[in-house]
Amino acid sequence: MSNAEDHDSSRRDFIHYAAGGAGVVTVGAAVWPLVNQMNPSADVEALSTIFVDVGDLEPGGQVTVNFLGKPVFIRRRTEEEIADGRAVELSDLSIDRDSRNPNRPGSDALDSNRTMDEEGEWLVMIGVCTHLGCVPLGDGAGDFGGWFCPCHGSHYDTAGRIRRGPAPENMHIPVAEFVDDVTIQLG
Ligand code: FES
Repeated sequence: MSNAEDHDSSRRDFIHYAAGGAGVVTVGAAVWPLVNQMNPSADVEALSTIFVDVGDLEPGGQVTVNFLGKPVFIRRRTEEEIADGRAVELSDLSIDRDSRNPNRPGSDALDSNRTMDEEGEWLVMIGVCTHLGCVPLGDGAGDFGGWFCPCHGSHYDTAGRIRRGPAPENMHIPVAEFVDDVTIQLG
């Protein structure tokens, strides 16, 4: 199996199920529909809430899920990525100092306000460049070790904050929470 195939199959393994919001799944429903993440149907794309099992994601691993028609990056950061992100002062952020995190409304863009957990391992964000909407490249891309948007050259750091280039805002974070040790609810 090639590296690419191996990568694809391991990514598929992370997506175990998704569930719908009101009107799709009734309260108390015990069985959620299985979803093939690589080929989501139109009704799945429209679901307002999905659950993502991240139990198999190792540090340095990332999975991209389609949520409300947009890619959402779920990354389990390495210790180095966490340290890099936490070392950044607000004064280093010359473009956007807002966390863009609806889970912590009004907070500043310190690394600790961008991550899901106190330790800073889990970063979940909408994978859309805030310039004109391209999907940035990840896995340490760009001059700040995070993501790089090749469309017009926007560099994002390990917390998805815009550090250089034309994008005006940090990558946005969706409404998200851990509902148990290994499951993230989006929406
Ligand atoms: S869309 Fe990303 S830099 Fe323009």
